[in-house]
Amino acid sequence: MVDTAPVAVVGVVGGEVVGADARERVEQAEVLVGAPRHLAYFEPSCGPQLRIDLAGPIDQAIDAIAGHVAEGRTVCVLASGDPGFFGIVRLMSARLESPRIRVHPAPSSVALAWGVAGLHWDDAEVVSAHGRSLAQALPVALTSPKVAILTDPSNPPELIARELLARGSRPRKVIVASRLGEPDQSVVHTDLSGASAGSFDPLSVMLVIDEGDPTDRPSIAWGWPERKFARRDGMITKSEVRAVALGKLSLPRTGVLWDVGAGSGSVGIEAAALSRALRVYAVERHGADAERIAANAAAAGVAVDVITGDAPDALAGMPDPDRVFVGGGGLDVVEASWKRLGSGGVLVATFVLLDRAVEAHRLLGDMVQIHVNRCVPIGSAGVRLEPLNPVFVCWGER
Ligand SMILES: C[S@@+](CC[C@H](N)C(=O)[O-])C[C@H]1O[C@@H](n2cnc3c(N)ncnc32)[C@H](O)[C@@H]1O
Repeated sequence: MVDTAPVAVVGVVGGEVVGADARERVEQAEVLVGAPRHLAYFEPSCGPQLRIDLAGPIDQAIDAIAGHVAEGRTVCVLASGDPGFFGIVRLMSARLESPRIRVHPAPSSVALAWGVAGLHWDDAEVVSAHGRSLAQALPVALTSPKVAILTDPSNPPELIARELLARGSRPRKVIVASRLGEPDQSVVHTDLSGASAGSFDPLSVMLVIDEGDPTDRPSIAWGWPERKFARRDGMITKSEVRAVALGKLSLPRTGVLWDVGAGSGSVGIEAAALSRALRVYAVERHGADAERIAANAAAAGVAVDVITGDAPDALAGMPDPDRVFVGGGGLDVVEASWKRLGSGGVLVATFVLLDRAVEAHRLLGDMVQIHVNRCVPIGSAGVRLEPLNPVFVCWGER
């Protein structure tokens, strides 16, 4: 089939493209777009060729590309590796329809990095810290046994290693692969401490590998036993109630969750472990409890932002939530949180007092009472049922 797409996006590694079609699109384009180092690799083979340097603002370059396409010129955009994988194709397809674009990928930097490491990566996760905050990359890197992280000048490998150590990461093997495919390619094998003390090319791929016992790793289990969390005087949502509350929260894959009146942090910590790209805020008025939440989160290997303060005032500076759990603070906290929830957001609150629960039920719409009897042995004679305090779980979707 003849390729009629007016814009070719061609991946380049070390000055090479993959395949005769890709080379032809580069050589015959009327307009060639790319970073100076990519443009320098290719000379036009027939007639004059307009060249656009991608070093400037990317939106302007994409506008220029769209303008040339509208005027009927053939355009070829050069980009590193696989431009469809965390690359320029995402931005271009927001501006040009995909039938107008044909991508000719070269191996991505991530594939090259696993290649120099000599490891298979069909079981690895990939996250980007390139041109975005670390909020998504850190939770994945903390809990995934095998992850590749794309870095940038604001989030270089040494900073990511320091953040992982600060959040209580297990020991990890780290491989930093820089300038892949270029003559000055470098590959450093180290660990998190070594990486945190290093100084790397910011345009690197960082491989983070957990070689520890796989049975120690976090699983999708929820309703963890209370003994997993350091806590004050029984101030914890019991595991059976927590399991129901987490179910009612119907956790999204991304977004923001508030755990208000967080106590030991158990609800927010479990939510963070279940949905690793979720940004979790735990709000707790007591300083000592807040410190315990941070320690519990680190021990569980998850990232939780702990806010020490009194809700609802403490909620003011926080990003609007997609999910809220209220375990302490009462009705004014429920009402203030409900107002901040976006459409489709879910709020779950637990109460011991019936009067408060009835009020919350009026606002939220759903309520159950959970009354748990735990089975405990009486010596060798048999078992008896030990009742826990009944708890009301109220929830609603905005
Ligand atoms: C029952 S405990 C919550 C248990 C928690 N879900 C857990 O599993 O550990 C209630 C917590 O809410 C906190 N709290 C109560 N009112 C608060 C408020 N207005 N703002 C912040 N924290 C509050 C208390 O200090 C206490 O730690």
